[in-house]
Amino acid sequence: MSDVPDIKDLFEPKSIAIVGASGNPDKIGYKILENVVVSGFNGKIFPVNPKGGDILGLKTYVTIEEINEEIDIACIVIPSQLVYDSVLSCAKKKVKFLVIITSGFSEVGNHELEAKIVAVAKENNMRILGPNIFGIYSSRGHINATFGQKDILPGSVAIITQSGALGIAMMGKTKTANMGLSAMVSIGNKSDIDETDLLEYLMHCEDTKVIMMYIEGIKRGNRLAGILKQVTRKKPVIVIKAGKSKRGALAAASHTGSLAGADEVFSDIMRQCGAIRAESVEEAFDWCNFFANSKIPNGENTVIITNGGGIGVMAADACEKFNVSLMDDIDTMKRIFSNAVPSFGSLKNPIDITGQATISDYEKALDAANNEDKISSVICLGCETAVLDADKLPIIIENIMQKAKKPFVFSFIGGVKFDECIVQLKKKNIPITNDVYEAASCFGAMSANYRNIHKRTDNYSDIKAIDKQMDFEKIERIVSKVKSENRNFLLANEASQVMEAGKISMPKSKIAKNTEEAVEYAGSIGYPVVMKIVSKDIIHKSDAGGVIVGVKNSDEVYSAYGKIIDNCKNYKADAVISGIEIAEMLRPGVESIVGARKDKALGPVVMFGLGGVYVEIMKDVSFRSFPFDRQEALELVKETKTHMLLEGARGEKKKDIDVVTDMILKLGLIVEKVAVISDIEINPLRVYDEGEGAKAIDVRILLNGA
Ligand code: ACO
Repeated sequence: MSDVPDIKDLFEPKSIAIVGASGNPDKIGYKILENVVVSGFNGKIFPVNPKGGDILGLKTYVTIEEINEEIDIACIVIPSQLVYDSVLSCAKKKVKFLVIITSGFSEVGNHELEAKIVAVAKENNMRILGPNIFGIYSSRGHINATFGQKDILPGSVAIITQSGALGIAMMGKTKTANMGLSAMVSIGNKSDIDETDLLEYLMHCEDTKVIMMYIEGIKRGNRLAGILKQVTRKKPVIVIKAGKSKRGALAAASHTGSLAGADEVFSDIMRQCGAIRAESVEEAFDWCNFFANSKIPNGENTVIITNGGGIGVMAADACEKFNVSLMDDIDTMKRIFSNAVPSFGSLKNPIDITGQATISDYEKALDAANNEDKISSVICLGCETAVLDADKLPIIIENIMQKAKKPFVFSFIGGVKFDECIVQLKKKNIPITNDVYEAASCFGAMSANYRNIHKRTDNYSDIKAIDKQMDFEKIERIVSKVKSENRNFLLANEASQVMEAGKISMPKSKIAKNTEEAVEYAGSIGYPVVMKIVSKDIIHKSDAGGVIVGVKNSDEVYSAYGKIIDNCKNYKADAVISGIEIAEMLRPGVESIVGARKDKALGPVVMFGLGGVYVEIMKDVSFRSFPFDRQEALELVKETKTHMLLEGARGEKKKDIDVVTDMILKLGLIVEKVAVISDIEINPLRVYDEGEGAKAIDVRILLNGA
């Protein structure tokens, strides 16, 4: 059995020592101790302070070693220069978790001190939360070991936050938003424990119905993706990520890199894993509250009920924006709503019960929608009118919510009485707003979550089958030879050999060392041919004038050969030229790009999109974290506009999308399995009609260190 403590003991500790507990009510060490005491923690509390004595009526220990009991958590609240010694003392005491509140470590460049502390913790099987955090709250552990607010409302939302200040602010906001928490964890510098470790606990925590994460940066993205895929099958995960900067995490070594603004890649990967990304804290709170209090839908057939045409149209627009599917089974809607809709109303979705609708018309329509299985969720809208009794509105809304069999969201616009009604119902956690967009946004999050649970397959047998077709030993041999020559990129012929080993089809080609060979090879391949420079010193061949297409006969081969050599010598006089590649001239098809790279933060990332020379201008690309299955590869393709071309635009035939998904999985496998390959990119991958395959025209492969 591993000696590393179970993360459960961090959320449900039996004892806590507060190192740096202070009797001074203005100090953080006092506030944390006070919060632990008043939160009703029923484990043992050990204040530690060199002065000894009593703090808040509790015996205070001069050192942690003096405590004669097991300690699950040591919460460290002393200046940074004292932390290392304190961690050594904790190691002697065999403390399980160090919750290091103190700032002044890697966040201000003090990496060395942080690394020293992490090393001691690792050697002694202690785990660290922090440093640079405000602490941890857990409703299951009845513990509030934070210096945030005292009276946290227990509930079913768990929040993980990398930002301390924002986290404390969010703690305060949970009160005004009437949002109950099951946990609130500050992860700060993530020197050891990160969001992935915490998700492993929260995934199984029965008190937690929904998880919100505020993330600034990711260190172990591949692990996070793996765990997120599991968690999101069980409960919704809402992510707010700051930092849309394209700098930093992803180096621009290849197209795949330069196209991969860190934020876009992150967004795509979150979607792939089923996490729902919120744009603001406000939106995340709305969604959390909604998920925490809503029923689960049985499908994607939403009905809008309204007394106003305009607001109904606005809601329909908002549903389109947030990807909420509206029911269009007219027969069912006629059958169930005809009682509540006058002849001049509308039985199409939005169901318009008209401006003459009374409370009882609303009641009838809501009951009818609630009792019809074919309707999976309901958006109920209202504009204030003289015939709609605002005093009775809260009563019928509460009634329907008590018997709700499906998700409901309400949006009512009007004067003081309507606003009061909204405030009153919000206090009871009923999802109601005065903005149709907010209402539709909650349903958008709900629909995304529904699709994630029901449509993601995670069937890795496809990858296994593809893996078997590929010769990884041969790929390893090719790249080790390149490495042995101190090169970090593959020449065209070497890249072709990798493609061959990966069973990725390329145009027929041979490398000619002189004009005679060039003519001979062109004849055997068949005219017309393409001629390309082969040189380790020229990566962008077209820019160097190193590519001539449509070479039709032997005379043209002679002249193209000379021209390419001249162009390349002019481009780079000292370029070492290994020959000229004579390649089959391919017929036209859809030009796509497929790439894969090992990202430092995110692990293997695969890209697909529109290929060709304008790839960086068009930026029609999407990303996924590898591994994923064929279904997900197809989703990746579908996310791009290139998909419309592959489906057969302007009367053209459908293209071979199956082969494209094959290529996507193959490049993912190469980058995942061949340690030394850092980037691989096919641009263009020319895709032909269905059943006719695709050919990798140009392939670039970079090795670690490039
Ligand atoms: N063991 C136990 N107690 C000790 C030790 C020790 N080895 N050494 C000192 N102490 C006592 C001190 O005597 C003091 O007690 P006292 O008030 O009775 O004298 C107490 O520990 C605290 O020490 P101070 O030197 O008074 O430190 P202070 O409380 O001013 O600051 C703190 C400590 C809060 C950890 C500070 O260094 C710090 O890092 N502050 C920032 C915290 C932070 O913001 N974290 C991120 C949160 S998220 C966000 O941004 C909101």
